[in-house]
Amino acid sequence: MAAKREEVVKVGEDEGLAALARQHLVQPWPVAGEIGDEARGGIRSGEGIYVIDGEGRRLIDGPAGMWCVNAGHRRQELAQVLYDQAMELSYNSPWYTMNEPSVALSARLSGHAPGDLSHVFYTTGGSSAVETALRFMQFANNVRERPEKKLIVSRQGGYHGSTYLSASLNGRPRDHDWMDSATDQVIKLTCPNPFRRPAGMDEAAFCDMLVEEFRDVIAARGAERIGAFIAEPVMASGGVIVPPAGYLQRMRALCTENDILFIADEVVTAFGRLGSVFASKEVFGIEPDMITFAKGVTSGYFPLGGVMISARLLEDLRRSNHSEAMFAHGLTYSSHPIGCAVALKNLDILEGGLLNHARGVSEYFQSSLKRLEDLPLVGEVRGLGLMACIECVADRVSNNPLTLDLEVGKRIDAHCQELGLLVRPLINMCVMSPPLTIERPQIDTMTDILHTSIRRTMDELVREGLWKG
Ligand SMILES: Cc1ncc(COP(=O)(O)O)c(C=O)c1O
Repeated sequence: MAAKREEVVKVGEDEGLAALARQHLVQPWPVAGEIGDEARGGIRSGEGIYVIDGEGRRLIDGPAGMWCVNAGHRRQELAQVLYDQAMELSYNSPWYTMNEPSVALSARLSGHAPGDLSHVFYTTGGSSAVETALRFMQFANNVRERPEKKLIVSRQGGYHGSTYLSASLNGRPRDHDWMDSATDQVIKLTCPNPFRRPAGMDEAAFCDMLVEEFRDVIAARGAERIGAFIAEPVMASGGVIVPPAGYLQRMRALCTENDILFIADEVVTAFGRLGSVFASKEVFGIEPDMITFAKGVTSGYFPLGGVMISARLLEDLRRSNHSEAMFAHGLTYSSHPIGCAVALKNLDILEGGLLNHARGVSEYFQSSLKRLEDLPLVGEVRGLGLMACIECVADRVSNNPLTLDLEVGKRIDAHCQELGLLVRPLINMCVMSPPLTIERPQIDTMTDILHTSIRRTMDELVREGLWKG
């Protein structure tokens, strides 16, 4: 029976909360057997790198929410800006008017962005940012009288969002098993995962293979039909996949040669995760035509995303034969004054020391987690900056994921939670991307908890006869 409207649940009364959630809440990415009847672990509050769960346990927020709470939880100055901006101007229609924070933020972001990425179109998050970049490419090619140049090239293992077209680009296991997608508009290339490269091939040859594959696709489908290539500089939810050295630069060069727009999806890698406001140029030496961002732009304090767009692309449109053509695309919350004001304060925090701090601790973070490779269940620990992935394998010779127990990440997560760490389990992988404020002793604690939890998981798998050890 549905709960009555006036029913009040106090946060912390976990059972009541769970029952009410089961009656009224549909969670993201549910399975059919649980949809609309599911309660997930409650989070009551947050502070710094910690969250407090429904039972009052204090846990290190290993994934920083969803790779977004970059500045950490409960920051007074961010909360204050939310309040102050809401009291000054809580909303204005971007259809007819503009507000000062969105203009100021665009100018600031343009100062950080590579090349001629001078303009910003704001959205409500990452999916809408990717969708905007794709629709912009379609519109631009229509206006430039080449309406057939619309195919989008993405990669296996990538993740770009949950709207129809952005989701069509996704290439992780299970992304498309039960979902429709625009298969006629998307071509997927091999995942640039050096850990899964063909046996006997070195990383340089693997890189050559990936670039040649793209070249072949362009030759086969025709450059005149391919509008954009989209890539996360480091694949995030596909398992923190750092591509081979030179890969992104060579893919960029192929795009330039063939007049294909290069969209860098920096929804995760921007705003300090790799030590820079944007990673494309500073970390990988590339100048994309568009950069999509979200998440860390407000450290998760307000839903905001956007697309940085090249001045050249905009000028091409202004000079086209179709000055009347309308980019019929906009969101009620584009350029939201509160989101933009929060993002400005978040940039103050990043520029005021947090970027330096993130750069300073990232090597320690990577080397500390790397020690987990001593455990026989761990196939590889990889990462860059403050993002890392621990990939478990059934046996290290073939590097097979655990076919017997694809849910091994969940088991590790459960042990970690008992010991004070929240992880993001992804099938046989655990992904870590803590708030950038994390300090070395907290990294030690995180690594110790992971070590113990993986050990406990190994013992459990052996005991249950699922793994030989
Ligand atoms: C690289 C990347 N792009 C896009 C998205 C979609 O962002 P959102 O969930 O804010 O719509 C995500 C979300 O995790 C992401 O990791």
